[in-house]
Amino acid sequence: MSSSEVDSALFLLFPTNLVLSPILALVFVFLSVLWFYPGGLAWALSRAQRSIPGPPGIVLALSGTAGHRALAGLARSLQAIPLMAFSVGFTRFVVSSHPETAREILYSSAFADRPIKESAYELLFHRAMGFAPFGEYWRNLRRISANYLFSPKRISACGEQRRAIGERMVGEVKELMGRYGEVELKRVLHFGSLNNIMMSVFGKRFDFVKGEGVELEELVREGYELLGVFNWSDHLPLLGWLDLQGVRKRCRGLVRRVNVFVGNIIEEHRKRREKFGRTVEDGVGNFVDVLLDLQEEGEKLSDADKVAVLWEMIFRGTDTVAILLEWIMARMVLHPDIQSKAQAEIDAVVGNSGIVSDSDIPKLPYLHSIVKESLRMHPPGPLLSWARLAIHDVNIGNHFIPAGTTAMVNMWAITHDESIWSEPCEFKPERFMAEDVSIVGSDLRLAPFGSGRRVCPGKAMALATVHLWLAQLLHRFKWVPSEGGVDLSECLKMSLEMKNPLGCKALPRC
Ligand code: HEM
Repeated sequence: MSSSEVDSALFLLFPTNLVLSPILALVFVFLSVLWFYPGGLAWALSRAQRSIPGPPGIVLALSGTAGHRALAGLARSLQAIPLMAFSVGFTRFVVSSHPETAREILYSSAFADRPIKESAYELLFHRAMGFAPFGEYWRNLRRISANYLFSPKRISACGEQRRAIGERMVGEVKELMGRYGEVELKRVLHFGSLNNIMMSVFGKRFDFVKGEGVELEELVREGYELLGVFNWSDHLPLLGWLDLQGVRKRCRGLVRRVNVFVGNIIEEHRKRREKFGRTVEDGVGNFVDVLLDLQEEGEKLSDADKVAVLWEMIFRGTDTVAILLEWIMARMVLHPDIQSKAQAEIDAVVGNSGIVSDSDIPKLPYLHSIVKESLRMHPPGPLLSWARLAIHDVNIGNHFIPAGTTAMVNMWAITHDESIWSEPCEFKPERFMAEDVSIVGSDLRLAPFGSGRRVCPGKAMALATVHLWLAQLLHRFKWVPSEGGVDLSECLKMSLEMKNPLGCKALPRC
């Protein structure tokens, strides 16, 4: 075991020079058996009779900023790549670092629920799609969003909006270069992405320098932080009521503000509809109008449900896209040869001074390969973001998993496994020119959007946005490092972010 792996497992040490009474000795032996059971405390207390390989004690990896790497290391060293058991407090976990067991988990009807963290519950996300328990309500939300928010027709109808926001980002980059001589790209991407989602969901654009936009940005930032934070109350129920990390208190404060903010937007839509009637035509309107239409048609969605559904889309849709694009651009700065090859491809399709649009994207296979390779090396959800929860007892391979176990897939470990990918630590988009690998969930060697019935519903929208904005940014600028260079250190919060934001220079090309 490397030192970082040892760091991630806690072992209880008992003093050996104590003279123990027989009862204390018995307690000591009992606790040691529990503690040193493979998979640790929570597994020792479970009904599982045959143990799954895993570290004893309590694993602290998930409370750090590199949980995906620590778990991958533990699975390798314990020869538990297909399935590893571990405990966090009293929570039982299994993690798969192999495509076959990953498929079993993600496709199994037993793992159709998600464990709800206290923060998600307090933020009312159990009424939104991502955390709603499997059942009628969740199915309805998936159907509604598939028809009205993520349908191919809707995604293509938003093409002009995406292009215009991409152009605005190009303008901001130019301005920042003029003012500072370098750009911190994350901010530009974050606000572009937030506005893109706000347009699709609320039909409204925000200015993030003053007024409502500043409030919105604060709400989103606080929400990301709360959902990303590792909260001991989720795993040590006795500590739960103490709210030692203050998560519950902050969530309640945030929910009050979000209810007012989103409630006002819903009210604005209601008033507009009273004046002008329904605005959704052929499934092409914003998502607030869609939800209001459905309510008028008898769908059972309270205002609180609507707030949860709308708010979740903003959380899920904004940062994932911005974070992925920041990693891609970091790679472009680090690999000038790959950048020039992509620019040559774009120029050949669009022309030097032309405008990139959605219709050009299918003609850019090398650009697609760059996005795939970036998703392989830097999956925004390395542990597939949100875990799954066993609704009932189930077997994975020949291992028995009791109901109530949390299951995760370590997608990062799979995409960095040298028995699956040649030279996994090298950034080589060419590998996808040689082999067309699907990234939308059918091939578990690379499934950054998850798979099975809870696969990411926003994947097509996310890919349409990332491809178009990447093409626009590469077409208009040559990207070179700033004095600080590029630091690829990672930090796992709600998504896998760059620890130090990418600073670079953008030199105009046309
Ligand atoms: C690069 C961008 C994105 C990545 C890498 C990503 C990744 C993921 C992953 C790994 C999951 C869990 C899947 C599973 O359990 O099998 C997920 C779920 C989800 N994603 Fe995404 N996502 C992205 C963009 C988006 C966007 C743009 C939206 C919406 C606007 C979105 C909405 C959701 C929702 C609602 C769920 C929960 C689905 C459910 O539980 O039924 N995602 N995403």
